[in-house]
Amino acid sequence: ASTRYEAESAPAVCTGAIESNWAGYSGSGFCNGANAAGAHAQFTVTAGAGGAATLRIRFANGTTGSRPAGLTVNGAAAGTLSFEGTGAWSTWQTATVTVPVNSGANTVRLNPTTSAGLPNLDYLDAETGGEQPANTL
Ligand code: GCU
Ligand code: CA
Repeated sequence: ASTRYEAESAPAVCTGAIESNWAGYSGSGFCNGANAAGAHAQFTVTAGAGGAATLRIRFANGTTGSRPAGLTVNGAAAGTLSFEGTGAWSTWQTATVTVPVNSGANTVRLNPTTSAGLPNLDYLDAETGGEQPANTL
């Protein structure tokens, strides 16, 4: 099972504006990050146990250029994401990355590395350790 963290819901951080003018998002909106390097978005991911977590980040990029970002977990570099164009701002795709997490709350930050900033971000789904197996009969 995984837990969904909406980009528009605290304690998530959006360096930009929460908007809802492009269709297809989950929840009540999405994070339109400022078009600037370092205009980060942040999620707090809670894990029942330390270990590897699979993150699925839903985004839209209506441009033809990628919107690359570095990913940190609790301040440590944990990967990069390219966030390629999705064809339209209302066309959402999911980028998947596996990162290490600690037991308890983890700060996951997406830090855009170009002046284009991040793509629009809808949510982060996190599949962490320490969850109950679905059925162990
Ligand atoms: C457009 C679009 C925004 C998007 C922005 C961007 O303004 O409406 O949703 O965030 O482009 O280039 O980042
Ligand atoms: Ca933007």
